[in-house]
Amino acid sequence: MNDIHLDIQQVDKIYGTAASAVHAVKGLSMVVRRGEIASLLGSSGCGKTSTLRMIAGFEGVSKGTIKLAGRTLNDLHPVKRNVAMAFEGYSLYPPLTISDNIAFALKATKHGAKEIAEKVSAMAEMLEISDILDRYPSSVSGGQQQRASLGRALVRDADLHLLDEPMGQLEPQLRALLRGRIKHYIKENGVTAILVTHDQAEANALSDRIAVMEGGYLQQFDSPEKLKDQPNNLYTGTFVGEPPMNTFSAKIERNDTLVRFILDQGVSLSYNISDFSPNVIDAVLALQHVVVGVRPYAIKRHADGMRATVVANHWLGDQTHIAATLAGHSVILVEHDRATDKVGDDIYINLDPDNIHVFDRDSGAAVSHGADIAR
Ligand SMILES: Nc1ncnc2c1ncn2[C@@H]1O[C@H](COP(=O)(O)OP(=O)(O)OP(=O)(O)O)[C@@H](O)[C@H]1O
Ligand SMILES: [Mg+2]
Repeated sequence: MNDIHLDIQQVDKIYGTAASAVHAVKGLSMVVRRGEIASLLGSSGCGKTSTLRMIAGFEGVSKGTIKLAGRTLNDLHPVKRNVAMAFEGYSLYPPLTISDNIAFALKATKHGAKEIAEKVSAMAEMLEISDILDRYPSSVSGGQQQRASLGRALVRDADLHLLDEPMGQLEPQLRALLRGRIKHYIKENGVTAILVTHDQAEANALSDRIAVMEGGYLQQFDSPEKLKDQPNNLYTGTFVGEPPMNTFSAKIERNDTLVRFILDQGVSLSYNISDFSPNVIDAVLALQHVVVGVRPYAIKRHADGMRATVVANHWLGDQTHIAATLAGHSVILVEHDRATDKVGDDIYINLDPDNIHVFDRDSGAAVSHGADIAR
């Protein structure tokens, strides 16, 4: 489980010529273990599909190396890579039925006709497309084509499965159902997979680790829990998590015992220097400007807390989202109980030292997380 399976080192992707170059992937290094499900998450254009296409061999690698199961892939023909890919566009073979599309890559293998038929039928059942197996791609819906394409990729015995937005066309209920089944299938069959998705809930539910990308750069590659608790930088901190982390730009002041993060309008967050672990306090105090981050569910009400004014209160059936303003900043709180606060009411909130993240305002790098704080 812990051995290196896919090894990407210092990979760049540059499209076009020098005059019109697009630098889509920059110095990407990441290692995926055998049996692991990794997700690529990031905003549109950050380089997710380019990364998958280089691994699959549909795009050349401009710089760096990609190895899979010990073999260097850079110059290997796509069909020799033993990589299965489900595309964003479905690219099924139009003259073949859905059943034959799914079976296609199996026909060139040692599997007998009966075994292939069984595998196709089980895959179709798992993906809820048993009823369209005899139809042709042109006569089924986009979501059905997408599931057929996913089935065609998953059914193969490949060293690596690349799934680019494999459920983007499906409604949330079906996605949620298939998500569980696909994860079970992947883990049962010892498959190694890289999934591209825009859906954080999907990335969280399916992945062992998530690679957050932005602007062609890998920002962080960690477990969903670690991305939440210890984001490397402000980008990851605010991109991962829904609703996003609240952030307050602040100036730092200190005296012998206290560190103060001064927000606008004279509001300040005061902490004992001894609240911080000795390894991080020097780094915090070395900064003049920081961004203090706190997750919406980590803001607590406290009678002695700071005053914030409610601007919206939404009960979602299992949690309340309260939007408020605090010293001119907007802040979102998530609470499990149904809150009765009305627009215009004042609430009093605390940002416990255990729950704050401190980032260097200039570089965005994380300097301290609640978990680093001494207690
Ligand atoms: N064939 C190409 N020629 C030139 N530029 C390209 C090509 N393919 C992608 N790009 C550019 O490379 C960058 C990364 O694109 P890529 O398709 O990898 O993004 P992505 O993260 O998959 O985005 P999305 O979430 O929208 O699918 C973008 O700026 C895109 O315009
Ligand atoms: Mg893409």
